[in-house]
Amino acid sequence: MPVETVEVPVAHPYPVVVGAGLDLGGVVSDTLQPGLCAIFTDSTVGPLYAARVREALERGGWRVAGILEIPSGESSKSMEAYADAIGRLARLGLTRDGTLFALGGGVVGDLGGFVAGTYMRGVDLVMLPTSLLAMVDSAVGGKVGIDLPEGKNLVGAFVRPRLVAADLDWLGTLPDREVSNGLAETIKMGFLSGGDYFEDLDLIEAARDGDLDALQRLVLHSVRFKARIVAEDELEGGQRAILNYGHTIGHALEAAANYNLAHGTAVAAGMVAAASLSREHFGTDLTAVHRDLIEAAGLPPRVSGVAPERALQAMGRDKKRSATDGAARHRFVLLRDVGDPIRDVPVSEEEARRAIGEILE
Ligand SMILES: NC(=O)c1ccc[n+]([C@@H]2O[C@H](COP(=O)([O-])OP(=O)(O)OC[C@H]3O[C@@H](n4cnc5c(N)ncnc54)[C@H](O)[C@@H]3O)[C@@H](O)[C@H]2O)c1
Ligand SMILES: [Zn+2]
Repeated sequence: MPVETVEVPVAHPYPVVVGAGLDLGGVVSDTLQPGLCAIFTDSTVGPLYAARVREALERGGWRVAGILEIPSGESSKSMEAYADAIGRLARLGLTRDGTLFALGGGVVGDLGGFVAGTYMRGVDLVMLPTSLLAMVDSAVGGKVGIDLPEGKNLVGAFVRPRLVAADLDWLGTLPDREVSNGLAETIKMGFLSGGDYFEDLDLIEAARDGDLDALQRLVLHSVRFKARIVAEDELEGGQRAILNYGHTIGHALEAAANYNLAHGTAVAAGMVAAASLSREHFGTDLTAVHRDLIEAAGLPPRVSGVAPERALQAMGRDKKRSATDGAARHRFVLLRDVGDPIRDVPVSEEEARRAIGEILE
């Protein structure tokens, strides 16, 4: 399986390198001048891979000031963890011309990216995604941020990485549950993109079995699709918002569950609800296809332990709403068909309540 590189064609383009057994030192030196850096990781990924990444970087001429580990899990995307991480980075002595390597899943990428974008007004960021979710989605596109108790990702920024390098071998230690969570975003993009990508969603089972070719194909489809969307609308003034398919309700479920619900799991249920709303608005019934794919990915179509009223309340605070939306109106990305997403579809409180009711146990 050859290593593949996709360029994200924004103002300062950056490469996304995807392959198994990457020569990380070489890949990094192809793009960046070696210098002082720090490795930002979490308490699960750090012990598995940080030492090897450090060695690869040092062989490539980098000076590693230190390895900064955060507790693994969504609770690290908090103001407290952010303040703590910035302080530790300062104590490690990372300088303004330094580079931060974010080695981990979406949590490490989102918090690490926000740290890189704000520490000393910004140091270079390299994304080394180790979860499937991070490879197919969060490591590309430049969105970084943290959560507040009031809502998901309410603090954040756009921080372009200089390079994204995904070694598929890292997925060898990813728990099955997290493979499933990553597949949720893959299914999302397959529905949005349609065409070959949607057809290739039948690789989901092989991907769950750890088949590297299947994984690489799905990751590359996602990266290419996301690169195309981000190139058109990097700062989400318009079309990029389609990537929030399934997320209006998904994010609300996460907040209502106090972030004790995995992002991918919440998004899967959110897509089932969005498919039901899509059927009402556009008449096309994609609900069964959604349920089948979500089941194939090993994800539940319904979630438990979330109070519907809390989810509705959290949806009212969703940052995708705009100030001119009335109190009872939500804006959704819905599907008129596979490959044909429509954004900003107004959805009433009543419709939203019904759709949420359908996916809660
Ligand atoms: N910025 C974006 O554009 C964007 C897009 C989608 C999702 N997100 C965010 O990403 C987060 C979810 O990402 P995630 O699902 O990767 O969560 P995560 O970072 O919490 O990773 C999931 C779990 O897998 C572990 N893990 C990661 N890689 C591993 C590996 N190779 N081997 C063993 N364990 C490993 C982590 O330690 C963690 O326990 C959410 O906060 C979500 O909001 C951001
Ligand atoms: Zn997501």
